[in-house]
Amino acid sequence: MQQIVQPKLIIHGGAGSCLKGKGGADAVRQSLHRVVQEIYALLLAGENASSAVVKGCQLLEDDPRFNAGTGSVLQSDGHIRMSAALMDGTRQRFSGIINVSRVKNPILLAQTLQEGDDRVLSDYGAAELLRELQLPPYDPTTELRLQEWMLERKGDFNRAMAGVVAERELVTESNAGRGTVGVVALDSQGQLAAATSTGGKGFERIGRVSDSAMPAGNYASSDAAISCTGIGEDIIDECLAARIVVRVTDGLPLGQAFERSFLEAHRNQRDFGAIGIDAHGTIAWGKTSEVLLAAYHNGQTIADTLNADLGMQTAVG
Ligand code: GLY
Repeated sequence: MQQIVQPKLIIHGGAGSCLKGKGGADAVRQSLHRVVQEIYALLLAGENASSAVVKGCQLLEDDPRFNAGTGSVLQSDGHIRMSAALMDGTRQRFSGIINVSRVKNPILLAQTLQEGDDRVLSDYGAAELLRELQLPPYDPTTELRLQEWMLERKGDFNRAMAGVVAERELVTESNAGRGTVGVVALDSQGQLAAATSTGGKGFERIGRVSDSAMPAGNYASSDAAISCTGIGEDIIDECLAARIVVRVTDGLPLGQAFERSFLEAHRNQRDFGAIGIDAHGTIAWGKTSEVLLAAYHNGQTIADTLNADLGMQTAVG
């Protein structure tokens, strides 16, 4: 396939408070860089943006370190319910799965729904879809997440959210985070897509719906594509992903769209992060949380946001 556009890629593995130790940050960096390398190679080989973001999400879901797929956090009743969304920017088409259980890769369900008439399914509908697709039942629970839940149960679930990444030592109040994984890509044909997947915020009420399977948390058009991470309720209140994309469509450069949206979010005391790419290949990220676990390929090199200053920040990669 003739390469018209230089592909671009950015991924995230959550946002939250400081990682506990340097070991934690190094291991997260390695995981993120590995995924960037693998997916960027696919984009260079001509993979389209939609399948590339799904494959990237799948790799992140399979990494027990992150709160999506295997390694998802448990809800208040001790069950895992996962949500994921895919948005194809070229077709401006959203599909998502909400609170699905016992499946390895929720993002694959969102991908399947892209071609359907009913493109967002929740609980019962999601279970029916699993049956129709004859996907083998899969338990995404890890020992660490189970221990984390049991510890939290002793404290009567008084923590706002579970840890952003599953660390070898159990996470504590000081490094509680807001996990989700996300992938945004511009392919060699100039097409954009975004995918996001999450186990939710952890310890939440049954039936709580995450931003990750809403246009607030995952949105794309032919102008820009965005994936968010952080406290879902904050992301929904700002309608963050769609807000940034609409600003770009209305003529604001991506960097300025991030800056303006994050200034507003900071003023409103929100706690989250976002990654994005526009049709010109500009990569951007922003956060109001202490850290954003993101890595990207800008066509020349791989870089990440793990050493960024604490607190509110936006940047163009
Ligand atoms: N952003 C993930 C969640 O709040 O569910």
